[in-house]
Amino acid sequence: MRFTRFTVGLAAMLCAASVWAQAPILIKFSHVVAPDTPKGKAAEYFKKLAEERTHGRVKVDVYPNSTLYKDKEEMEALQLGAVQILAPLSSKVTSMGIKDFQVFDLPYIFDNLDEAHKITQGPVGKSMLNKLDKLGIAGLAFWDNAFKEVTANRPLRTPADFKGLKMRITPSKVIDAQMRALGANPQVLAFSEVYTALQTGTVDGEENPTSNIATQKFYEVQKYMTMTNHSFHNYVLVANKRFWDSLPPDIRKTMDGVVKDSTAYFNSIAEKDNNDALAELKKTKMQIVELTPAEKKSFKKALAPLHKQFEPVIGKELIDAIHHETNWDPSTF
Ligand code: LMR
Repeated sequence: MRFTRFTVGLAAMLCAASVWAQAPILIKFSHVVAPDTPKGKAAEYFKKLAEERTHGRVKVDVYPNSTLYKDKEEMEALQLGAVQILAPLSSKVTSMGIKDFQVFDLPYIFDNLDEAHKITQGPVGKSMLNKLDKLGIAGLAFWDNAFKEVTANRPLRTPADFKGLKMRITPSKVIDAQMRALGANPQVLAFSEVYTALQTGTVDGEENPTSNIATQKFYEVQKYMTMTNHSFHNYVLVANKRFWDSLPPDIRKTMDGVVKDSTAYFNSIAEKDNNDALAELKKTKMQIVELTPAEKKSFKKALAPLHKQFEPVIGKELIDAIHHETNWDPSTF
């Protein structure tokens, strides 16, 4: 057979095409917490399911602990398509102009995980996820973590104990207002900077669920943790919409199943993981402060007004819908 330039060129194209055809679809999944947290474990489970169920046609690279992008950067990277999947704290999407997602930051909006799931895994949550489309983001699911506690170097038993404290917060107008209502000075910092900020005294305290407090070793630089359970810490699983909508139909169908099953996995492990983290924290030198009913009531009374205050920002309709679904009644505080 004579090897003309044509046959050599054709062979090269066929070879390239076959290589391209075999190149997996790459998903970069960036997050800011430790691997041994509910989000860290669920990200790895997402990877496992995606690679197994697509028989390698999809490859997921997970980048935990801010190793690829820190908080604010990750949002921008998602919109640029530099990463394909994130699971940021719901209120962190606020930085992209969607105010509704701060609703979970409203203090004491849920009494327990069942109430939270009713909202995030039901029609209210679905309508919230759909709102992300206009940002070029596919809102895939909510991953419901736990209720937040506060840590500081003094025991925080009543609102008055917060007076003058510099408290690290995530970028949420609700949490900013929450800290100011308690007489503290809120300071937004990326999650990856919190340990050093606590260690150097740049801030005096912070709020997080026990799984983050334990895995970030905040107990090394905080003397007290108060079990306020004052607001809900959940994530929104999001994808770059152009990428997600461009997936081949068979792959997209499989990935929709991966989203569903990794969400069920996250929501099935979170409560135990955070309870296990609390048990670990009780073994450290950090003292755990349990509130009396009267002390907890003092926080609820001090913070309940934020629900009304944020109607113009979050939307009265959404807040009322959640109050209705959960029988939220401040007169019971
Ligand atoms: C934070 O305080 O920034 C963390 O809650 C972030 C996270 O993803 O858990």
